[in-house]
Amino acid sequence: MKGLRSVGILSTGSYTPEKILTNADLEKMVDTSDEWIVSRTGIRERRIASDDQASSDLAYEAAVKALQKANISAEQLDMIIVATVTPDHSFPSTACILQDKLGASKAAALDVSAACTGFIYGITIATQFIANGLYRYVLVIGVEALSKITDYTDRNTCVLFGDGAGAALLGPVASDKGFKSFDLGADGSGGKLLSVAAGGSRNPATAETLEQKMHYLSMSGKEVFKFAVRVMNNATETVLSQAGYEKNDIDLLVPHQANQRIIDSAVKRFGLSEDKVVVNLDRYGNMSSASIPVALDEAVNEGRVKDGDKLVLVGFGGGLTWGAAVLVWGTEEYVE
Ligand code: UT7
Repeated sequence: MKGLRSVGILSTGSYTPEKILTNADLEKMVDTSDEWIVSRTGIRERRIASDDQASSDLAYEAAVKALQKANISAEQLDMIIVATVTPDHSFPSTACILQDKLGASKAAALDVSAACTGFIYGITIATQFIANGLYRYVLVIGVEALSKITDYTDRNTCVLFGDGAGAALLGPVASDKGFKSFDLGADGSGGKLLSVAAGGSRNPATAETLEQKMHYLSMSGKEVFKFAVRVMNNATETVLSQAGYEKNDIDLLVPHQANQRIIDSAVKRFGLSEDKVVVNLDRYGNMSSASIPVALDEAVNEGRVKDGDKLVLVGFGGGLTWGAAVLVWGTEEYVE
Protein backbone atom coordinates (compact mmCIF):
# COMPACT_ATOMS: atom_id res chain seq x y z
CA MET A 1 0.00 0.00 0.00
CA LYS A 2 2.64 2.49 -1.14
CA GLY A 3 1.93 6.17 -0.57
CA LEU A 4 -0.90 5.38 1.84
CA ARG A 5 -0.99 5.42 5.63
CA SER A 6 -0.14 2.12 7.29
CA VAL A 7 -3.12 0.74 9.22
CA GLY A 8 -3.12 -1.67 12.14
CA ILE A 9 -5.10 -2.88 15.14
CA LEU A 10 -4.72 -0.51 18.10
CA SER A 11 -6.72 -2.67 20.52
CA THR A 12 -9.09 -5.61 20.76
CA GLY A 13 -12.00 -6.62 23.00
CA SER A 14 -14.40 -9.53 23.23
CA TYR A 15 -17.50 -10.74 25.01
CA THR A 16 -19.23 -14.10 25.22
CA PRO A 17 -22.51 -14.70 27.09
CA GLU A 18 -22.45 -16.46 30.45
CA LYS A 19 -24.75 -19.36 29.59
CA ILE A 20 -22.85 -22.49 28.54
CA LEU A 21 -24.36 -25.25 26.41
CA THR A 22 -22.26 -28.42 26.70
CA ASN A 23 -22.16 -31.52 24.56
CA ALA A 24 -23.79 -33.36 27.49
CA ASP A 25 -26.69 -30.86 27.34
CA LEU A 26 -27.07 -31.49 23.60
CA GLU A 27 -27.11 -35.26 24.15
CA LYS A 28 -30.39 -34.68 26.00
CA MET A 29 -31.84 -32.55 23.17
CA VAL A 30 -30.98 -34.48 19.96
CA ASP A 31 -29.62 -37.88 18.92
CA THR A 32 -25.91 -37.08 19.29
CA SER A 33 -22.96 -37.85 21.53
CA ASP A 34 -20.03 -36.03 23.06
CA GLU A 35 -17.78 -38.51 21.26
CA TRP A 36 -19.28 -37.68 17.81
CA ILE A 37 -19.16 -33.93 18.34
CA VAL A 38 -15.59 -33.85 19.68
CA SER A 39 -14.17 -36.25 17.10
CA ARG A 40 -15.96 -34.69 14.08
CA THR A 41 -15.64 -31.03 15.09
CA GLY A 42 -13.45 -30.47 18.20
CA ILE A 43 -16.27 -28.57 19.93
CA ARG A 44 -17.01 -29.23 23.62
CA GLU A 45 -19.23 -26.32 24.61
CA ARG A 46 -20.61 -23.03 23.31
CA ARG A 47 -22.06 -19.80 24.75
CA ILE A 48 -25.73 -18.88 24.37
CA ALA A 49 -27.18 -15.37 24.54
CA SER A 50 -30.03 -14.82 26.99
CA ASP A 51 -33.56 -14.10 25.75
CA ASP A 52 -33.07 -10.38 26.22
CA GLN A 53 -29.63 -10.21 24.56
CA ALA A 54 -29.49 -9.28 20.88
CA SER A 55 -26.35 -8.93 18.76
CA SER A 56 -25.97 -5.21 19.52
CA ASP A 57 -25.84 -6.02 23.26
CA LEU A 58 -22.99 -8.49 22.76
CA ALA A 59 -21.25 -6.09 20.38
CA TYR A 60 -21.52 -3.26 22.91
CA GLU A 61 -19.64 -5.24 25.59
CA ALA A 62 -16.81 -6.10 23.20
CA ALA A 63 -16.66 -2.54 21.82
CA VAL A 64 -16.37 -0.92 25.25
CA LYS A 65 -13.44 -3.18 26.13
CA ALA A 66 -11.59 -2.37 22.90
CA LEU A 67 -12.12 1.38 23.34
CA GLN A 68 -11.01 1.29 26.98
CA LYS A 69 -7.87 -0.64 26.11
CA ALA A 70 -6.86 1.96 23.51
CA ASN A 71 -7.99 4.84 25.73
CA ILE A 72 -10.10 6.18 22.87
CA SER A 73 -13.57 7.59 23.53
CA ALA A 74 -16.62 6.63 21.46
CA GLU A 75 -16.89 10.28 20.35
CA GLN A 76 -13.53 9.96 18.61
CA LEU A 77 -14.72 7.12 16.36
CA ASP A 78 -15.05 7.98 12.68
CA MET A 79 -16.81 4.80 11.66
CA ILE A 80 -18.36 1.63 13.06
CA ILE A 81 -18.53 -1.53 10.94
CA VAL A 82 -20.51 -4.48 12.30
CA ALA A 83 -20.11 -7.85 10.58
CA THR A 84 -23.06 -10.11 11.36
CA VAL A 85 -25.63 -12.50 9.92
CA THR A 86 -27.77 -12.13 13.03
CA PRO A 87 -28.55 -8.39 13.07
CA ASP A 88 -30.99 -7.10 15.71
CA HIS A 89 -33.38 -6.23 12.84
CA SER A 90 -33.33 -6.13 9.02
CA PHE A 91 -32.92 -2.42 9.61
CA PRO A 92 -31.86 -0.18 11.25
CA SER A 93 -28.42 -1.73 11.02
CA THR A 94 -26.86 -3.21 14.13
CA ALA A 95 -24.01 -0.74 13.61
CA CYS A 96 -26.46 2.17 13.94
CA ILE A 97 -27.93 0.67 17.12
CA LEU A 98 -24.42 0.25 18.50
CA GLN A 99 -23.45 3.78 17.45
CA ASP A 100 -26.31 5.10 19.58
CA LYS A 101 -25.52 2.84 22.56
CA LEU A 102 -21.88 3.88 22.53
CA GLY A 103 -22.63 7.56 21.97
CA ALA A 104 -20.31 7.58 18.94
CA SER A 105 -21.89 10.78 17.70
CA LYS A 106 -19.64 11.51 14.73
CA ALA A 107 -19.25 7.92 13.51
CA ALA A 108 -20.65 6.64 10.23
CA ALA A 109 -22.15 3.18 10.76
CA LEU A 110 -22.86 0.21 8.54
CA ASP A 111 -23.32 -3.56 8.67
CA VAL A 112 -21.39 -6.00 6.51
CA SER A 113 -23.00 -9.27 5.46
CA ALA A 114 -20.28 -11.77 4.63
CA ALA A 115 -21.13 -14.51 7.15
CA CYS A 116 -18.10 -16.12 8.76
CA THR A 117 -15.77 -13.98 6.62
CA GLY A 118 -17.48 -10.80 7.82
CA PHE A 119 -14.73 -9.68 10.18
CA ILE A 120 -12.07 -10.01 7.44
CA TYR A 121 -14.29 -8.09 5.01
CA GLY A 122 -14.84 -5.48 7.75
CA ILE A 123 -11.17 -4.88 8.52
CA THR A 124 -10.39 -4.72 4.80
CA ILE A 125 -13.03 -2.02 4.27
CA ALA A 126 -11.95 -0.13 7.40
CA THR A 127 -8.32 -0.14 6.32
CA GLN A 128 -9.10 1.66 3.05
CA PHE A 129 -10.73 4.59 4.84
CA ILE A 130 -7.82 5.02 7.26
CA ALA A 131 -5.09 4.37 4.65
CA ASN A 132 -6.38 7.12 2.35
CA GLY A 133 -6.63 9.59 5.23
CA LEU A 134 -10.40 10.07 5.27
CA TYR A 135 -10.80 8.49 8.74
CA ARG A 136 -8.52 7.89 11.73
CA TYR A 137 -10.38 5.46 14.02
CA VAL A 138 -12.66 2.71 12.74
CA LEU A 139 -14.18 0.14 15.09
CA VAL A 140 -14.80 -3.25 13.47
CA ILE A 141 -16.93 -5.81 15.27
CA GLY A 142 -17.80 -9.40 14.42
CA VAL A 143 -20.87 -10.40 16.38
CA GLU A 144 -23.35 -13.26 16.24
CA ALA A 145 -26.33 -14.48 18.20
CA LEU A 146 -26.53 -17.66 16.12
CA SER A 147 -28.56 -19.45 18.80
CA LYS A 148 -31.49 -17.27 17.68
CA ILE A 149 -31.49 -18.82 14.17
CA THR A 150 -30.47 -22.35 15.17
CA ASP A 151 -32.93 -25.25 15.09
CA TYR A 152 -32.27 -27.15 18.32
CA THR A 153 -34.03 -30.22 16.90
CA ASP A 154 -31.56 -30.50 13.99
CA ARG A 155 -28.42 -32.36 15.06
CA ASN A 156 -26.65 -31.44 11.81
CA THR A 157 -26.41 -27.82 12.86
CA CYS A 158 -27.29 -27.30 16.52
CA VAL A 159 -24.09 -28.84 17.85
CA LEU A 160 -21.93 -26.43 15.84
CA PHE A 161 -22.85 -22.86 16.62
CA GLY A 162 -22.44 -20.40 19.49
CA ASP A 163 -22.84 -16.71 20.34
CA GLY A 164 -20.24 -14.01 20.95
CA ALA A 165 -18.65 -10.75 19.87
CA GLY A 166 -15.13 -9.57 19.10
CA ALA A 167 -14.01 -6.02 18.39
CA ALA A 168 -10.91 -4.43 16.91
CA LEU A 169 -10.10 -0.73 16.84
CA LEU A 170 -8.19 0.13 13.66
CA GLY A 171 -6.03 3.20 13.26
CA PRO A 172 -2.75 4.47 11.77
CA VAL A 173 0.46 2.69 12.79
CA ALA A 174 4.16 2.99 11.82
CA SER A 175 4.95 1.84 8.28
CA ASP A 176 6.75 -1.35 9.35
CA LYS A 177 3.60 -2.44 11.26
CA GLY A 178 -0.01 -3.02 10.27
CA PHE A 179 -1.80 -4.83 7.46
CA LYS A 180 0.50 -5.90 4.63
CA SER A 181 -1.95 -7.72 2.37
CA PHE A 182 -5.58 -8.75 1.98
CA ASP A 183 -7.39 -11.31 -0.13
CA LEU A 184 -11.18 -11.32 -0.38
CA GLY A 185 -13.29 -13.65 -2.47
CA ALA A 186 -16.81 -14.86 -3.13
CA ASP A 187 -18.57 -17.64 -5.01
CA GLY A 188 -22.26 -16.83 -4.95
CA SER A 189 -23.08 -20.02 -6.85
CA GLY A 190 -22.66 -21.86 -3.53
CA GLY A 191 -25.00 -19.58 -1.61
CA LYS A 192 -27.58 -22.26 -0.90
CA LEU A 193 -25.03 -24.48 0.82
CA LEU A 194 -25.22 -22.31 3.91
CA SER A 195 -28.25 -20.07 4.29
CA VAL A 196 -31.39 -18.93 6.04
CA ALA A 197 -34.14 -19.43 3.46
CA ALA A 198 -36.95 -17.27 4.81
CA GLY A 199 -37.49 -13.91 6.44
CA GLY A 200 -36.10 -11.82 3.57
CA SER A 201 -37.75 -10.50 0.40
CA ARG A 202 -37.46 -13.85 -1.44
CA ASN A 203 -39.53 -15.76 1.11
CA PRO A 204 -41.15 -13.25 3.46
CA ALA A 205 -42.27 -14.60 6.82
CA THR A 206 -45.56 -16.50 6.58
CA ALA A 207 -47.21 -19.15 8.72
CA GLU A 208 -46.01 -21.65 6.12
CA THR A 209 -42.35 -20.59 6.20
CA LEU A 210 -42.47 -20.79 9.97
CA GLU A 211 -44.00 -24.23 9.91
CA GLN A 212 -41.32 -25.43 7.48
CA LYS A 213 -38.62 -24.01 9.79
CA MET A 214 -37.25 -21.87 6.98
CA HIS A 215 -36.10 -19.15 9.38
CA TYR A 216 -33.41 -21.39 10.74
CA LEU A 217 -29.88 -21.74 9.46
CA SER A 218 -29.30 -24.74 7.19
CA MET A 219 -26.00 -26.10 5.92
CA SER A 220 -24.69 -28.79 3.57
CA GLY A 221 -21.81 -29.62 5.87
CA LYS A 222 -19.77 -31.88 3.61
CA GLU A 223 -19.74 -29.47 0.65
CA VAL A 224 -18.91 -26.50 2.87
CA PHE A 225 -16.15 -28.53 4.50
CA LYS A 226 -14.41 -29.21 1.17
CA PHE A 227 -14.78 -25.58 0.13
CA ALA A 228 -13.42 -24.41 3.49
CA VAL A 229 -10.25 -26.49 3.34
CA ARG A 230 -9.54 -25.33 -0.22
CA VAL A 231 -10.11 -21.60 0.22
CA MET A 232 -8.51 -21.36 3.64
CA ASN A 233 -5.24 -22.74 2.34
CA ASN A 234 -5.38 -20.80 -0.95
CA ALA A 235 -6.22 -17.48 0.70
CA THR A 236 -3.42 -17.93 3.23
CA GLU A 237 -0.94 -18.64 0.44
CA THR A 238 -2.15 -15.61 -1.51
CA VAL A 239 -1.75 -13.12 1.34
CA LEU A 240 1.63 -14.53 2.33
CA SER A 241 3.01 -14.18 -1.18
CA GLN A 242 1.49 -10.69 -1.63
CA ALA A 243 3.21 -9.60 1.58
CA GLY A 244 6.48 -11.16 0.44
CA TYR A 245 6.51 -13.74 3.22
CA GLU A 246 7.03 -17.49 3.34
CA LYS A 247 5.08 -20.00 5.42
CA ASN A 248 7.99 -20.13 7.89
CA ASP A 249 7.46 -16.42 8.58
CA ILE A 250 4.03 -17.01 10.20
CA ASP A 251 4.21 -16.31 13.95
CA LEU A 252 0.51 -16.83 14.58
CA LEU A 253 -2.39 -18.14 12.49
CA VAL A 254 -5.81 -16.92 13.63
CA PRO A 255 -8.26 -19.00 11.60
CA HIS A 256 -12.06 -19.03 11.53
CA GLN A 257 -13.17 -21.57 14.13
CA ALA A 258 -15.56 -23.90 12.28
CA ASN A 259 -14.03 -27.33 12.67
CA GLN A 260 -10.78 -28.61 14.20
CA ARG A 261 -10.26 -30.82 11.15
CA ILE A 262 -10.34 -27.76 8.84
CA ILE A 263 -7.80 -25.99 11.05
CA ASP A 264 -5.64 -29.13 11.10
CA SER A 265 -5.46 -29.12 7.32
CA ALA A 266 -3.92 -25.63 7.40
CA VAL A 267 -1.58 -26.60 10.23
CA LYS A 268 -0.31 -29.46 8.07
CA ARG A 269 -0.11 -27.47 4.85
CA PHE A 270 1.88 -24.65 6.42
CA GLY A 271 3.95 -26.84 8.78
CA LEU A 272 2.84 -24.96 11.89
CA SER A 273 3.48 -26.01 15.46
CA GLU A 274 0.59 -25.92 17.94
CA ASP A 275 1.79 -22.71 19.60
CA LYS A 276 1.47 -20.88 16.26
CA VAL A 277 -2.27 -21.50 15.84
CA VAL A 278 -5.08 -20.01 17.89
CA VAL A 279 -7.87 -22.49 18.64
CA ASN A 280 -10.84 -21.73 20.87
CA LEU A 281 -13.66 -23.60 19.14
CA ASP A 282 -13.59 -26.25 21.87
CA ARG A 283 -15.03 -23.59 24.24
CA TYR A 284 -17.17 -21.51 21.86
CA GLY A 285 -18.08 -23.58 18.80
CA ASN A 286 -18.50 -21.71 15.54
CA MET A 287 -19.36 -18.05 16.21
CA SER A 288 -19.27 -17.09 12.52
CA SER A 289 -18.00 -13.51 12.15
CA ALA A 290 -17.12 -13.34 15.88
CA SER A 291 -14.76 -16.33 15.79
CA ILE A 292 -11.65 -14.58 14.50
CA PRO A 293 -11.82 -11.38 16.61
CA VAL A 294 -12.61 -13.34 19.81
CA ALA A 295 -9.69 -15.71 19.10
CA LEU A 296 -7.41 -12.74 18.41
CA ASP A 297 -8.45 -10.93 21.59
CA GLU A 298 -7.84 -14.04 23.69
CA ALA A 299 -4.42 -14.56 22.11
CA VAL A 300 -3.51 -10.93 22.86
CA ASN A 301 -4.72 -11.22 26.47
CA GLU A 302 -2.74 -14.43 26.96
CA GLY A 303 0.45 -12.66 25.79
CA ARG A 304 0.71 -14.80 22.67
CA VAL A 305 1.03 -11.79 20.34
CA LYS A 306 4.27 -9.76 20.45
CA ASP A 307 5.27 -6.53 18.79
CA GLY A 308 6.51 -7.27 15.26
CA ASP A 309 4.85 -10.72 15.07
CA LYS A 310 3.48 -11.69 11.65
CA LEU A 311 -0.14 -12.80 11.93
CA VAL A 312 -2.36 -14.41 9.31
CA LEU A 313 -6.11 -13.97 9.85
CA VAL A 314 -8.20 -16.21 7.60
CA GLY A 315 -11.92 -16.88 7.30
CA PHE A 316 -14.47 -18.64 5.07
CA GLY A 317 -18.18 -19.27 5.11
CA GLY A 318 -21.64 -18.37 3.84
CA GLY A 319 -22.00 -16.52 0.58
CA LEU A 320 -19.89 -18.43 -0.14
CA THR A 321 -17.11 -16.06 0.90
CA TRP A 322 -13.51 -16.17 2.02
CA GLY A 323 -10.84 -13.72 3.09
CA ALA A 324 -7.40 -13.45 4.63
CA ALA A 325 -5.01 -10.77 5.82
CA VAL A 326 -1.37 -10.51 6.88
CA LEU A 327 -0.87 -8.24 9.87
CA VAL A 328 2.42 -7.21 11.45
CA TRP A 329 1.45 -6.67 15.07
CA GLY A 330 2.04 -3.28 16.67
CA THR A 331 -0.61 -1.38 18.64
CA GLU A 332 1.21 1.93 18.96
CA GLU A 333 -0.70 4.66 17.15
CA TYR A 334 1.30 6.57 14.53
CA VAL A 335 1.01 10.31 14.96
CA GLU A 336 2.07 12.42 11.98
O1 UT7 B 1 -18.55 -21.43 9.49
C1 UT7 B 1 -18.98 -21.56 8.19
C2 UT7 B 1 -18.36 -22.69 7.53
N1 UT7 B 1 -18.83 -23.95 8.08
C3 UT7 B 1 -18.02 -24.98 8.06
O2 UT7 B 1 -16.90 -24.85 7.68
C4 UT7 B 1 -18.57 -26.32 8.46
C5 UT7 B 1 -18.02 -27.36 7.52
N2 UT7 B 1 -18.55 -28.69 7.73
C6 UT7 B 1 -18.22 -29.44 8.82
O3 UT7 B 1 -17.55 -28.99 9.71
C7 UT7 B 1 -18.67 -30.89 8.83
O4 UT7 B 1 -19.14 -31.24 7.56
C8 UT7 B 1 -19.76 -31.21 9.89
C9 UT7 B 1 -19.14 -31.15 11.29
C10 UT7 B 1 -20.91 -30.22 9.77
C11 UT7 B 1 -20.29 -32.61 9.68
O5 UT7 B 1 -19.24 -33.55 9.73
P1 UT7 B 1 -19.09 -34.67 8.60
O6 UT7 B 1 -17.94 -35.48 8.95
O7 UT7 B 1 -19.05 -33.95 7.27
O8 UT7 B 1 -20.42 -35.50 8.80
P2 UT7 B 1 -21.61 -35.75 7.78
O9 UT7 B 1 -22.42 -34.53 7.60
O10 UT7 B 1 -21.10 -36.43 6.55
O11 UT7 B 1 -22.43 -36.80 8.60
C12 UT7 B 1 -21.90 -38.10 8.89
C13 UT7 B 1 -22.93 -38.84 9.70
C14 UT7 B 1 -24.33 -38.80 9.10
O12 UT7 B 1 -24.94 -40.04 9.34
P3 UT7 B 1 -25.07 -41.12 8.17
O13 UT7 B 1 -25.87 -40.46 7.09
O14 UT7 B 1 -23.67 -41.42 7.75
O15 UT7 B 1 -25.78 -42.25 8.84
C15 UT7 B 1 -25.02 -37.75 9.91
O16 UT7 B 1 -26.41 -37.94 9.96
O17 UT7 B 1 -23.03 -38.24 11.00
C16 UT7 B 1 -24.40 -37.93 11.26
N3 UT7 B 1 -24.46 -36.75 12.10
C17 UT7 B 1 -24.42 -36.80 13.45
N4 UT7 B 1 -24.32 -37.84 14.30
C18 UT7 B 1 -24.29 -37.55 15.62
C19 UT7 B 1 -24.56 -35.47 11.72
N5 UT7 B 1 -24.60 -34.66 12.80
C20 UT7 B 1 -24.50 -35.48 13.88
C21 UT7 B 1 -24.49 -35.25 15.26
N6 UT7 B 1 -24.38 -36.29 16.10
N7 UT7 B 1 -24.58 -34.01 15.78
